[in-house]
Amino acid sequence: MTFRYTRAVALAVLLGSAGSAGAQTARSPQTSEANADRRASETERRMQPDERTVLTRGLWAIPLIPNVTIPAEAVLGAGYVTGIPRLDVPALVETDASLGVSYIAGLRKDGATALPSATAMGSTWNPGLIRRGGAMIAGEARAKGFNVLLGGGINLMRDPRNGRTFEYFGEDPLHSGVLGGAAIDGVQSQHVLSTVKHFALNAQETGRHAVDGRIADDAFRMSDLLAFEIAIDQGKPGAVMCAYNRVEGAPACGSDYLLNRVLKRDWRYPGFVMSDWGAVGATDFALAGLDQQSGAQIDKQVFFGAPLAAAAARDPAYAGRVADMNRRILRSIYAIGLDANPPVKAPIDFAANAAIARAVEDEGIVLLRNRNALLPLSKDVGSIVVIGGYADAGVLSGGGSTQVQPVGGPAVSLPMGGEGPLAKYNNQTFHGTAPLAAIRALAPKAKVTFVDGRYPAEAAAVARRADVAIVFATQWMSEGADVPDLSLPGGQDTTIAVVAAANPKTIVVLETGGPVLMPWLERTGAVLEAWYGGAKGGDAIAATLFGDVNPSGRLPVTFPASIEQLPRPALPYAGMIDRDFAAGLAAGKSYPIDYNIEGADVGYRWFARKGAVPLFPFGFGLGYTTFEHGAVKIVGGANPRATATIRNTGTRAGSDVAQLYLVSTPAGRTLRLAGFAKVAVESGAIATATIPIELRLLADNKGGRWSMPAGTYRFALGRSATDLGPAVTVTFPARQWR
Ligand code: BGC
Repeated sequence: MTFRYTRAVALAVLLGSAGSAGAQTARSPQTSEANADRRASETERRMQPDERTVLTRGLWAIPLIPNVTIPAEAVLGAGYVTGIPRLDVPALVETDASLGVSYIAGLRKDGATALPSATAMGSTWNPGLIRRGGAMIAGEARAKGFNVLLGGGINLMRDPRNGRTFEYFGEDPLHSGVLGGAAIDGVQSQHVLSTVKHFALNAQETGRHAVDGRIADDAFRMSDLLAFEIAIDQGKPGAVMCAYNRVEGAPACGSDYLLNRVLKRDWRYPGFVMSDWGAVGATDFALAGLDQQSGAQIDKQVFFGAPLAAAAARDPAYAGRVADMNRRILRSIYAIGLDANPPVKAPIDFAANAAIARAVEDEGIVLLRNRNALLPLSKDVGSIVVIGGYADAGVLSGGGSTQVQPVGGPAVSLPMGGEGPLAKYNNQTFHGTAPLAAIRALAPKAKVTFVDGRYPAEAAAVARRADVAIVFATQWMSEGADVPDLSLPGGQDTTIAVVAAANPKTIVVLETGGPVLMPWLERTGAVLEAWYGGAKGGDAIAATLFGDVNPSGRLPVTFPASIEQLPRPALPYAGMIDRDFAAGLAAGKSYPIDYNIEGADVGYRWFARKGAVPLFPFGFGLGYTTFEHGAVKIVGGANPRATATIRNTGTRAGSDVAQLYLVSTPAGRTLRLAGFAKVAVESGAIATATIPIELRLLADNKGGRWSMPAGTYRFALGRSATDLGPAVTVTFPARQWR
C-alpha cells in the first residue's frame, strides 16, 4: 500500500512527453473480425503450458523498482508485455497516452507533440478532428517503437475538482462516447492498440485506490457506462482498462458485475480487460473478468504469472479463463494488425504534427464573454499589457501519466515540491509557444509589455496605462491529487479583479483543467477558456484574440456558479492522503461515495433537475459571427436523425455546433443531449446540419435492456443546455433491445 501511494504520487509527477510521426496513412483494411477470432483460437490452441501466462501480465517498464529487470527489447514507457516469438505473437510495448506520447520523467531523452487537454478536445465537438489527433499521436508512438497507447480516457466529470478532469472529454455520455470513440479509432487506424479507460466511475483522485462508488445499475448504465458503451461501439478499442476505485463494494478490476456481466455479457465486448497499474489484489480477479495484470511488479504479487498457472492446473474454471484471456488478447492483436504491422523507429515530422495540435486548440478555445464586442482585437491597437500565467514562456499542461514534453524540453518547469526521491518530477510544465510572442507577432505596431502578475497592485498600475490588458490565469491539475475548490490559485482572482477595475478593456485568458469560479466576471471585458493548449497553444490563443481564428468551441462541462450547486459540495474524503486510506482499508473500513445523489443526472442534467443557474452552461460558447437556426425536422425510424438549417448572419465565416436535446419522453425523461453536429458556414450562407440521433439517449435502461415506450418524443435545438429553441415532436413505436 505504501508503494501504491508512492506510485500514485509518482505518476502524478513522473511523466514527460515525446514526439510523433506525422504519417496519416489511410486505414488499411483491417483483418476481419471473424478472421481475428479464428486466428486467436488457433494460436491459443497451440500454446504450451508455460506460454499461457506470458500475455496475461506486463511490467512497469520504468527502471525505478529494485530487482526488476526491464528486457533489453522493451522501450522505456508505461508497460511491456513479453511476446511469444515461437507463435509470432508480438510483445505489447505500451505508452501513455491520450494527449501525446508521454515522457516518463525524461527516462527516454526524446520529445513528442502535445495535443491540447481532452477537455479542450471535448470543446471542439468535432469527432473528425479528434480522430486525426489520435492518428497523430499513434504515429509518434509507432516511431518510438510502441504498439499500445493507454489512451481513451472517458470518465464523466461528476466532480470538477477531480484532478484528472483535463484528461477527460466532459460530462455527457453521448458527447464523451462519440469523441472518445473517434480518438480510439484514430489511434488504431495506425495499427496501434488503444485502451478505453478507466472502467468505471473513477471520478476523483482523492482515495482513488479506496473509494467505493455507489450507484444504481440503471442510472450507471445511462451515464458513465453509456459513455463507455458508445466509445466501444465506435472506436472498437483492443482493450478496456479497469479502474483503481471500487464500484458497489468490489474493486473495479475484480468486479464480476462490471467486467463479466456488463462488459462481456451484455455488451459482448470481444477484446481484453487490462488492469490499471497497481490495481490487482488477487489471482481470482481473473474469474471476475480481468484478462491482464499490468505493471505487475507494482502489485503485492505477480498474480497472473505462477499463481494463475497453478490455479489453472488444478481448477477447470481457471483453465477455461486462461484460455479465454489469451484468446481475447490475441484477438485484439490480430484485429488491429499488431503482428503484421510492427512499429518502426523513424524520424518524426514535428511541424506537421504540431499543426494538428494547433487545429485542435483553434477549435477548442471557448469564448465565454465578449462585452461590447471587445474581441477580436484590432491589430492596430496602441498598447497591450500581458499579465501573468507565464505567458512570456508558454502554455500550461496537466501533470501525471499523460504529461508530454516537447523536443528540447519544456518552456518552463515549475517544481511543485514534495518529499521523497520522486518529488523532483512533480513539476508544472509549460509548452511553447508563448502567447506573448504570438501577440507581438500579430500586432507588430502595438507596444506590448509583460508583467508577471505576482503583485496585483503593479499589474493594475500597468493595466491602467494600457489600451488593453490581457490577464493569463492558470489552474494546474495533476493525476494523483484533486483541487480543493474551484478558485484560481495563488491570488490570481485578486489580480484579475484589480486589473479589471483599473482597465475595463480587460481580457482574461484561462488555462485551467476544468471549470473555475469567476468572482470578477462582471468587471471584465472578455473571457476566453483556452484550457491546456498543447504544442501550439500560444499561437492559437493569439490568433483567436485577433480574429484570425473565429472561436467555435462549446463547453463540454457545466461551469457552476458556486460549489454549493454541486451534488456533493464537500469533496468526499478531502484532506485524507493515500496512506490514511490504506490504513483504513487494512482495518476493514470502506469509503463509499454516494453517486445516487445525482444518479444519471450528471452535469447539466443535475442543474436542470435542481433548477440551478450555472455560471456558464454545458454547450455554451460565443464567436465573432452569429447563427440563426431554422426549423428542426426529425426523421424517425430505426436510424433517426434531425436536420436543421444554420444561417451565418454575421460578417465572418465560422462554425456552429448544432446540439439536439431531448426535451421529454413518454417515460418522463427530460433534458439529454441526443445528437450533435458541427457545421462550418460562410458569412451570409446557409448550411444544413444533419444530426444523427442516438436511440439509447431516448431510452431507459433496466438490467441491461433498453426500452422506449411508444409515443411522442420532444426535441429542441439548443445553443446550450439552457438555451433551447422551439420544441418539435416525433412519434416512435415501442422498442426494446439489449
Ligand atoms: C494511470 C493510467 C495510466 C497508467 C500507466 C496509472 O496510474 O491511472 O491512466 O495509463 O498509470 O502509466
